[in-house]
Amino acid sequence: MLRISDAQVHRALAERMRFYHELGIYDFYRREPSAVAVGEYAAEAPTARDSIIQPEMREEMPARNPAAAVRPVSDDNIFEVLSPKPEYGVADPAAALKIIREDLGDCIRCKLHKQGRKQIVFGVGNPRAELMFVGEGPGADEDAQGEPFVGRAGQLLNNMIKAMGLQREQVYIANIVNCRPPGNRTPERDECETCSPFLMRQIAVIKPKVVVALGAVAAKNLLAINAPMSELRGRWYDFRPAGARSNDLSSDSPSWNGVRLAVTYHPAFLLRDPRQKGEAWKDLQMVMKYLGIEPPNKAAE
Ligand code: URA
Repeated sequence: MLRISDAQVHRALAERMRFYHELGIYDFYRREPSAVAVGEYAAEAPTARDSIIQPEMREEMPARNPAAAVRPVSDDNIFEVLSPKPEYGVADPAAALKIIREDLGDCIRCKLHKQGRKQIVFGVGNPRAELMFVGEGPGADEDAQGEPFVGRAGQLLNNMIKAMGLQREQVYIANIVNCRPPGNRTPERDECETCSPFLMRQIAVIKPKVVVALGAVAAKNLLAINAPMSELRGRWYDFRPAGARSNDLSSDSPSWNGVRLAVTYHPAFLLRDPRQKGEAWKDLQMVMKYLGIEPPNKAAE
């Protein structure tokens, strides 16, 4: 008799939970354990897989709202994402962020910990920021100093923030991965997926009005969209971090429905191709308009 493996059951359950998650259902209650043990499921019996949306089908389906995208959560992470977190119910976002940092610990969850990282580079900035920037991963300077965007790309990001009429301390800055990939290579999928619950938790605690994804790696990891930068930029996305609840007790606004997400060029790319700075400025102006920020020279008039 054909048997369904634990891995298949795990995958089916993950898919089912992802489906509920996409519907906005986050809380689950446990029934008494079934009389049928996992290993006893027969292939001919109806299974969870029969009634769930398979990933390959979902790819074909038109998005319910083309302007909206919620980051898909990997099968391995869906249980992690949906489980209660120690910061839930902590009203002070600074305290909640500290709890997330402590939970991350001296992380050895992915292979980056043994590939030469000096230290973990956690997000920094205003725990109540309206605006958050998300980059790719720490470079050599960030790895040495333990803070995101402190090298050359960071200097340019600081200038971009200043040009918006803001100070670095007013915003929150984080990366998709918290550890430096060796030789500044692009972080690999498993590394991004391992780190992403911690980023999602930071976003869920801060509840910024806007997240700006810096570059394609950040954009593609935050959104369920694999598209060139030319298509990703210049528009808004509705975004709710995986695992965040609209009725989260730590929220100042109980009806919090997520954040708006915009995509712009990574500052390191702009250093290589400064001709694109004008395009990046257009993206930032879109953000400023939404946040009601006047550019400094206009504000001074
Ligand atoms: N590039 C990034 O994506 N993040 C940093 O923190 C620094 C450079």
